[in-house]
Amino acid sequence: MRSLFYIMLVGLLPSIGMAKNECGDVGSRLYRMLQCHKKTDKHLLCGLLKYCGDTGTNNSVTDCRDVLNDGKSAQSGVYSVVVDGAEHDVYCEMDLHGGGWTVFQKRFEGSVDFNRSWADYEAGFGDLNGEFWLGNSLLSQLVAQYAENDLLIRMVEFDGEVHYIMYRDFLLGNASTDYTLEFGSRIGGNATDEMAVHDRQPFSTPDVDNTEYQDDCATLYNSGWWFYDCFEANLNGLYLPATHADIWQGIIWESITGDRGSLQATDMMYRPSWADYEAGFGDLNGEFWLGNSLLSQLVAQYAENDLLIRMVEFDGEVHYIMYRDFLLGNASTDYTLEFGSRIGGNATDEMAVHDRQPFSTPDVDNTEYQDDCATLYNSGWWFYDCFEANLNGLYLPATHADIWQGIIWESITGDRGSLQATDMMYRPSLAN
Ligand SMILES: *[C@@H]1O[C@H](CO)[C@@H](O)[C@H](O)[C@H]1NC(C)=O
Ligand SMILES: *[C@@H]1O[C@H](CO)[C@@H](O)[C@H](O)[C@H]1NC(C)=O
Ligand SMILES: *[C@@H]1O[C@H](CO)[C@@H](O)[C@H](O)[C@H]1NC(C)=O
Ligand SMILES: *[C@@H]1O[C@H](CO)[C@@H](O)[C@H](O)[C@H]1NC(C)=O
Ligand SMILES: *[C@@H]1O[C@H](CO)[C@@H](O)[C@H](O)[C@H]1NC(C)=O
Ligand SMILES: *[C@@H]1O[C@H](CO)[C@@H](O)[C@H](O)[C@H]1NC(C)=O
Repeated sequence: MRSLFYIMLVGLLPSIGMAKNECGDVGSRLYRMLQCHKKTDKHLLCGLLKYCGDTGTNNSVTDCRDVLNDGKSAQSGVYSVVVDGAEHDVYCEMDLHGGGWTVFQKRFEGSVDFNRSWADYEAGFGDLNGEFWLGNSLLSQLVAQYAENDLLIRMVEFDGEVHYIMYRDFLLGNASTDYTLEFGSRIGGNATDEMAVHDRQPFSTPDVDNTEYQDDCATLYNSGWWFYDCFEANLNGLYLPATHADIWQGIIWESITGDRGSLQATDMMYRPSWADYEAGFGDLNGEFWLGNSLLSQLVAQYAENDLLIRMVEFDGEVHYIMYRDFLLGNASTDYTLEFGSRIGGNATDEMAVHDRQPFSTPDVDNTEYQDDCATLYNSGWWFYDCFEANLNGLYLPATHADIWQGIIWESITGDRGSLQATDMMYRPSLAN
């Protein structure tokens, strides 16, 4: 077994053994590879040749989910992100529903006036550590970075009662569409939907009425918002007491506040949808997930595939494990993982419990178990209840305080450790 493994790795794949020398210090970046194989490609595991491709640029932190995923921090607060080559500060909400949310509206005391001009709403206003509107221009750039984003709205009443609502497919058009709002179906939360009528509406402010309707809603209701004729929700309305005399004034979500109430606090935020585990994400020359959809097609090309996993500890120690009969079901099976017996390597098997498990993400729990493992452990993975290996967990230091967080292979990292680098790859079995 040992010599077979040696031949496979060193005989056919010299780049594995040489990767560290060629690349020097691979740095703090994590390499996740579910890599390419074409029938015509004689270089098995061709993707490994890209192991050295990282240029060490800082362009990967494009929103708060990257801040969380890169293990930079799991504390809510202000972080710098890079969008279209420019640095911007954003407020990241790291505690709610798995964290990684970029907040674009926050109100809780009425110290910041939201009855503002088009130019103010476009550029943003307020204080990122207090109440603010991030700005339509930056928000439209941020959400355009991913094909799919989730929108989360949190609302707090003056008696402390909290309400949430979450939608899929959130997008904000750019200035050419007057920052038209778009979102898809509701995917969670316990508030009644009041946003549906605001879908596909352009943004209006007291000085720029973009509605098709006669009323100048933004002027009447002292707010910049995606008004129609006029609204069922107006979270940018005047900051008023819990109940008051003026009808339809205040921070309104009709089913909660009625027409003469107002909310105590709100925040609105988005994060890239975990649907990008299906589509793939990252940079093939850096860190990435190839994508469940393509991977399931790739492995279906051959009757038998081998799966190889490489793991590197922070002290440089390398571990391998290899399995036969690797397959990934298609979307109809929620990308269920399948593999057969272990055929090589020197790591203890931690994947056996993950065999025949469907893929789950923080927004789609496909496990049969009660715990929402993907949300608890911040990852898309073939969770069961919950895991012995989670190579898509948070990028954390070698040892850290949070139990079961991090990039974990239990027999190597224990429950409070994390790996420095991993890659996962397959090739058609030599038995084909
Ligand atoms: C990356 O960011 C660090 C810290 O902000 C900085 O010192 C370094 O020069 C940056 N590297 C590149 C390639 O921009
Ligand atoms: C809202 O702003 C408009 C335009 O500046 C102003 O005329 C109006 O009085 C303001 N509303 C309130 C309640 O202050
Ligand atoms: C809504 O859900 C949140 C989070 O689960 C919970 O804290 C809150 O009490 C719920 N609110 C209502 C009104 O059910
Ligand atoms: C705005 O978006 C439209 C459609 O998505 C695009 O064609 C246009 O180039 C964008 N304009 C700017 C200034 O980015
Ligand atoms: C596992 O095997 C690889 C390849 O033969 C070797 O480089 C590595 O040092 C081994 N690791 C351990 C922990 O034995
Ligand atoms: C998914 O896989 C099942 C079983 O292998 C197959 O019957 C079905 O046609 C596949 N669906 C798609 C969309 O490829």
